[in-house]
Amino acid sequence: MVTMDINKIRYDTPGCQDKLFLNSAGSSLMPRSVTQSIVDYIQAEEQEGGYNLVEIRHSEIAEFYSQVGQLLHCNARNVAFANNATDAYAKALSTITFKKGDTIITSEDDYVSNHIYFITMKKRLGINIECIRTFDSGDLDLDHLERLIVQHQPRLVAITHIPTNSGLIQDVEQVGSICQARGILYLVDSCQSVGQIDVDVNKIKCDFLCASGRKFLRGPRGTGFLYVSDRVLDEQYFPMYLDLAGAAMTSPDEYKIVDSSRRFETWELPYALIIGLKEACQYANEIGIEAIEQYNRPLISNFRKKLISIPGVRLYDKGAKTGNIITFRKQEKSRKRTQEVLNNNQVYYSMSGKSYAYRDFDKKGVDWVVRLSPHYFNTPDELNQVANIIESI
Ligand SMILES: Cc1ncc(COP(=O)(O)O)c(C=O)c1O
Repeated sequence: MVTMDINKIRYDTPGCQDKLFLNSAGSSLMPRSVTQSIVDYIQAEEQEGGYNLVEIRHSEIAEFYSQVGQLLHCNARNVAFANNATDAYAKALSTITFKKGDTIITSEDDYVSNHIYFITMKKRLGINIECIRTFDSGDLDLDHLERLIVQHQPRLVAITHIPTNSGLIQDVEQVGSICQARGILYLVDSCQSVGQIDVDVNKIKCDFLCASGRKFLRGPRGTGFLYVSDRVLDEQYFPMYLDLAGAAMTSPDEYKIVDSSRRFETWELPYALIIGLKEACQYANEIGIEAIEQYNRPLISNFRKKLISIPGVRLYDKGAKTGNIITFRKQEKSRKRTQEVLNNNQVYYSMSGKSYAYRDFDKKGVDWVVRLSPHYFNTPDELNQVANIIESI
């Protein structure tokens, strides 16, 4: 049994003191050590100039890659910094030379921007997009995935681990086993899972995995990363647009790609933010993802139970396994009234609309839901307060 010191964690989190912050799936609260590390770095840049400072702080910058490696159970070599999850995702996609008729298999619950990429590629390149069917529970029908693979021989399978607004945790490990057995490239969007639950790339068996820093990992905005497998590196996959960080010129017309995931970065990087993200990863690693999960599990399940017991409240979550994202509406209460009550009571949350997940919202027959996403700095008492506020809508 691992434990977590909630008092220390709340002390470390200045933003949680004066509000009911339930928006870690949007952009969470940074621990003060994260903010401080960014400020310190920027102030040192002011004194040293950016290029000198990178030399001085090179071992601390290198730590970013090993902290992410610890989080994902991989080596520093397999990690690249990215500006956000979508940036990392695009770079991963761009390694594959798609041609007309190639198929990408994905899920109906994949993130909206990922679907926008696929639709663009369909329009420009003539690729084919197939979605894995789901059971009524919301979980993926893996037999259907196997049939789609046999029928379409896809170039890529791409799955979002925890979708943005349905509570669901998709079975990325089973999908990974199927892809590995057939040698199919596999891209996972773990934007909402990193920092919330254990993300082990060896168990998931993915070739690419992307995440952002600002969500459950509690890092700064404008940060993210991409994991790239040894297989992908060794088979010389590289992004469409390389710069001199990713390749070295060997003659006026030739270049050699670098050996590591750095081929997915650009030369110019926001080092202060990288230091901030390193600090956030270290903060999560020091508490331990296991301890975070153990704290979150009863916190969230008790909150769900409490919400369901409120007359008129309906949760719109699905799936056999759910995480920290909770979506709800109170029947017959307008969007305006719902937001008014939450705002007046200092509840921080997100609104999710149909354009974030067309198919999902169509199936649920609604065009908006409130998304609450508590995390381990929240307390049971805070969630009881939020439940009472929701009851009063
Ligand atoms: C599941 C999922 N994937 C990807 C993204 C995009 O992340 P970013 O805005 O960092 O590119 C989000 C953002 O909410 C998300 O929820």
